[in-house]
Amino acid sequence: MTLTETEAEKTVGEVLREGIGFLEKHGMESARVLGERLLEGLLDCSRHELYLEGGRILPRETVETYFACLERRARGVPCQYILGKAHFMDFVFRVTPCVLIPRPETEFLVEKILEEAGMKSFEKGGPEILDVGTGSGNIAVSLAAYLPQAAISAVDISEEALEIARENARRIGRRGDARNAAATGIEFLKSDLFDRLPRTKRFDMIVSNPPYLSGEEMRNLPPEVSREPALALFGGERGTELIERLAAGAGDFLKPGGILFFEIGYEQGDMTRRLLRELGWREVEVFRDYCGRDRVVRAADFRSTACGTD
Ligand SMILES: C[S@@+](CC[C@H](N)C(=O)[O-])C[C@H]1O[C@@H](n2cnc3c(N)ncnc32)[C@H](O)[C@@H]1O
Repeated sequence: MTLTETEAEKTVGEVLREGIGFLEKHGMESARVLGERLLEGLLDCSRHELYLEGGRILPRETVETYFACLERRARGVPCQYILGKAHFMDFVFRVTPCVLIPRPETEFLVEKILEEAGMKSFEKGGPEILDVGTGSGNIAVSLAAYLPQAAISAVDISEEALEIARENARRIGRRGDARNAAATGIEFLKSDLFDRLPRTKRFDMIVSNPPYLSGEEMRNLPPEVSREPALALFGGERGTELIERLAAGAGDFLKPGGILFFEIGYEQGDMTRRLLRELGWREVEVFRDYCGRDRVVRAADFRSTACGTD
């Protein structure tokens, strides 16, 4: 989209209408939502403010930037990569194409982890938690913000992802208070799953949103998802390679009775339940998300002395 001299001065309402029209012309589904989201992100305002302030004149540069964003969106770039930010839980995370865009399904995982943490007391006041495959740091940083007593470690195989995660930890901080940003205390480590962790390290909880798409799913990705890093999506040809490695290795890094929590694809519930039971995990549970689909797995360490419910 280009601007002529006379078109340069436009109001929020005009720009929004044109933006939505542009996306519709390019056959984009949910053109209104996308047009609004990009303008909200750019103006750093909420959706209703777009309408309340519909008559406000926008500077020419803002109009140009918005039109450039619309063009990138029409070429398949997700809004979050265009704007460089994504909402997760109560926070705004910086994202780049080096990290997965945090998903609402993963908020369900965080809710389950918080529920578990809230029901227990811990030796050191708060739980020691390891986040495996931290990506943008959305899980680890949210947990640090909500659980001020927790000691959190986070690993990822991608150094680029860890850089973004460190930045998010600094920006969001403990209790989501940017003034305390330096004090998140999250220990970030580049590691292939547990490879680089000290062999003596033990956690109360190991949590993860591992890559879990199969080869077949990778070959049929929606265009937006294909912009995300394959490393964050591809779980081996059957989709379960990382889940299998996680389930086989996590027990060595949990305290007795420690809990493993991880996200799965909605068709992986039965397979994961079977796998964990075969490996000796106890109290294996698969929780359904708000769409009624298998999504989060919880299992207790097999060396637990407590009675399992299985
Ligand atoms: C599905 S993404 C999850 C990112 C983030 N935790 C979230 O919930 O949005 C999986 C993450 O695991 C990382 N990863 C892939 N293979 C890994 C491995 N072998 N060891 C550690 N991290 C790995 C990827 O780089 C990616 O950041």
